[in-house]
Amino acid sequence: MKKKITLPEILACKHGNKIPTMVTCYDYTNARLVDESDIDMILVGDSLGMTMIGMKGTVGVTVEDIIYHTKHVVAGAPNTFVVGDMPFGSYNVSIEEAIRNANRIFAEGGCDCVKLEGGADVAPVVKAIVKAGIPVCSHIGLTPQTQALMGGFKVQGKSLEAAQNLLDSARALEEAGAFMVVLEGIPATLAAEITKRISIPTMGIGAGVGCDMQVLVAQDMLGMTEWVPKFVKKYADLRTVILDAYNEYVKEVNQKVFPSELYQYNAKIDGLETLK
Ligand code: KIV
Repeated sequence: MKKKITLPEILACKHGNKIPTMVTCYDYTNARLVDESDIDMILVGDSLGMTMIGMKGTVGVTVEDIIYHTKHVVAGAPNTFVVGDMPFGSYNVSIEEAIRNANRIFAEGGCDCVKLEGGADVAPVVKAIVKAGIPVCSHIGLTPQTQALMGGFKVQGKSLEAAQNLLDSARALEEAGAFMVVLEGIPATLAAEITKRISIPTMGIGAGVGCDMQVLVAQDMLGMTEWVPKFVKKYADLRTVILDAYNEYVKEVNQKVFPSELYQYNAKIDGLETLK
């Protein structure tokens, strides 16, 4: 049976051989599977806006959505460290409101920490949430909640100035008390450099092999979506497996091959033909 990774063990990965892994997960059935696997951590990400609710992006996801999905994931994955995402609008109004929303996601969702996007600008919010007793995972680089400001889902940190800004942000977040930082959509060389220069672990997504940990969106890496970004490796082709299964079921139902005797209740009822 897998043992849940602890926060000190996550911090220790900076100097150890083990590279912890995380996938997104939003429901009980899949949480059961992740819990049985060797994956160390689950992110109940605001990517659920796209994967679960059919939104175009993450901006419309609410605190209620995150709590709802986090609760069910936590129930299914008692041996996996669960990260609850703070959605857009839940930490950009005031520090008090950010703490209130972090409290709700942490307490009602039952997760092990919260994650929030943003660099040096949100460091005071990170500091306040940590001071309130909630571990915080930061997230910089390509931050989907503010992709409109970035002109779309574009690789970040490509100029020296932008790279310096990202390193400064990572340092500010470390200083504010974040225990780890997700680096999304930045050059691998920059991610490796940031990883070397801060003492909290980095978790990469589209950021190369030089990070301390790795995360992927489950639907992407399982091959459930039609399109995936360049940095995603498909470890399975579930889209084909599922579509084949659905279509085979339709075919067999129409051929009256399913349900055969094997899949029905075969009790004999005497005098059935006398029913009025
Ligand atoms: O919401 C999410 O899935 C994320 C990952 C892309 C890191 O934030």
